[in-house]
Amino acid sequence: MCGIVGYVGNRSCLPILIEGLKRLEYRGYDSAGIAVQQNGALLVRKAAGKVRVLEERVKDGKIVAHSGIAHTRWATHGAPNDINAHPHTDCSGKIAVVHNGIIENYGVLKSALLAEGHKFVTETDTEVLAHLIEKHVKRGLKLEQAVGAALRAVEGTYGIAVVSSDEPGVIVGARNGSPLVVGVADGEYFLASDVAPIVGHTRQVVYLDDGEMAVISPDGFHTATINHQPIDKPVHEVEWDLGQIEKGGYDHFMLKEIHDQPASVRDSMRGRLIVDEGLARLGGLNMTPEQMRDIKRIIILACGTSWHAGLIGEYMLEEHARIPVEVEYASEFRYRNPIVDQGTVVLVISQSGETLDTLAAMREARRKGARALGLVNVVGSTIARESDGGVYIHAGPEIGVASTKAFTSQVTVLALLTLVLGRQREMSVEDGLLLARALDAIPGKIERILQREADVDKIVQLYGGHDNFLYLGRGYNFPVALEGALKLKEISYIHAEGYPAAEMKHGPIALIDENMPVVFICTRDAAYDKVMSNMSEVRARKGRIIAIATEGDDAVKERADHVLYVPDTLTCLQPLLSVIPLQLLAYKVAVNRGCDVDQPRNLAKSVTVE
Ligand code: G6P
Repeated sequence: MCGIVGYVGNRSCLPILIEGLKRLEYRGYDSAGIAVQQNGALLVRKAAGKVRVLEERVKDGKIVAHSGIAHTRWATHGAPNDINAHPHTDCSGKIAVVHNGIIENYGVLKSALLAEGHKFVTETDTEVLAHLIEKHVKRGLKLEQAVGAALRAVEGTYGIAVVSSDEPGVIVGARNGSPLVVGVADGEYFLASDVAPIVGHTRQVVYLDDGEMAVISPDGFHTATINHQPIDKPVHEVEWDLGQIEKGGYDHFMLKEIHDQPASVRDSMRGRLIVDEGLARLGGLNMTPEQMRDIKRIIILACGTSWHAGLIGEYMLEEHARIPVEVEYASEFRYRNPIVDQGTVVLVISQSGETLDTLAAMREARRKGARALGLVNVVGSTIARESDGGVYIHAGPEIGVASTKAFTSQVTVLALLTLVLGRQREMSVEDGLLLARALDAIPGKIERILQREADVDKIVQLYGGHDNFLYLGRGYNFPVALEGALKLKEISYIHAEGYPAAEMKHGPIALIDENMPVVFICTRDAAYDKVMSNMSEVRARKGRIIAIATEGDDAVKERADHVLYVPDTLTCLQPLLSVIPLQLLAYKVAVNRGCDVDQPRNLAKSVTVE
């Protein structure tokens, strides 16, 4: 989704802003722009398309400035063209605004501003902010006060950065619903929508909360509410370093992150899994053993890939901890009237910790009295801060828009949670030991699958040109089928559907002919024989079968056209292995079709609008 970066300091701001925009590219965007403060005026440049197009446009050497703001836009109101790209300016061209989020009452505000004589040039909701701020500046307010006054009239979500040619070296930022972070260095300050553009310059950051503003200048920074009540905010130290958000020799972030998984899964378990005792320790839950034993029901809230991880969590927690679990799309949960009774705990799963639907669903559940636990990757993110407790999945920064390592880390942490809650209930020491040992062995097994990466190439050559794929699995492998299909459509734009294998005969079987590749996830578990029967049904209709099977299973070769093998493990942990070949398949198909894997069309890494 849209990205913001702002800089004030002694250095030339242009390279810092352009590099910052490049670090924000992963969030998904369709145009970019920049506004710098130079010789008492604002210079604004914008371009539809990639940051490199903007970079070309600013290469003329005319920008020599030390402060400015920049933006990557993901269109919501108005086409993704040069004009609608941010920054947006007021009538005088003295004020420039970049904005993430949506101004919901922009129609009303725009009509009033038009009636007062303001001239609009874009189709965006954001432009009203520039004119509203202008109106208050003309009343004699300083930029900070004018921004506060404008925001008090606004309904909707925003993370903004604003500059004025009348106040050189000053950038005003504010947030409501869309994250904004202040970077604090020696004599220079940054504003950004996440830490990615900041971390190469400083690790000291201040996270703004909703309804707060920050003003940065070369002399320092201060924070206040949008009503101008000063607030002291703690300075946090970011744990990531630059190396973790670079490609490290891989062609794409997605491939790097697929290969990160032996390490990221290990990191998710570090200091938490007690193998010898068949236990796990999750300190961040902030719950006493009694409170944990009192959990009567769990509702998992998430979107996208995190929702798929949630389904696996449901199966694990019900099977081993014997707690009833429901998994809900956050966007659905928040708009119905869900029953959240006493003893219900809400588990909120989000890589970014900023997905608006997930955040809003969590707030709704808390309003109804539920305790909310967050399973989040990004440290300091809004869900992490607003939940009552939780577990960081510690997958490290995930830049690829198609989530890979966050998924396996989410499933890993759900397995740890299953151990914690299960051992308090009916899970025996023996079963705890089995689960703990199996978990401990997962990183090594992922490594083994990655060593056979080339096995996927032949399948890519044969089927990479097809327009439709079906993914089928049962039990724990059903969510894996959903996730495999999602990966393929996200980055290769091939239509792919995930289905419970047994449901195939209730509809999708009609699609099967020699042009339909069907990916079966048929590792050895209780449902194996049934899945093999489903495979025969596909074969009888000439469907082409790609099977993900357990090492040593030769029988599967009789029914499948191609087999990708994964090591054996406990059934409940199988998704951690069977998803890996599917991630590789999606990646390689997308590359083969010439798709931009790290910046897939229309998608955003972190979806901060409804
Ligand atoms: C976006 C991303 C998906 C992700 C989903 C939920 O749609 O493109 O990869 O699964 O949001 O994101 P979250 O950060 O809440 O896990």
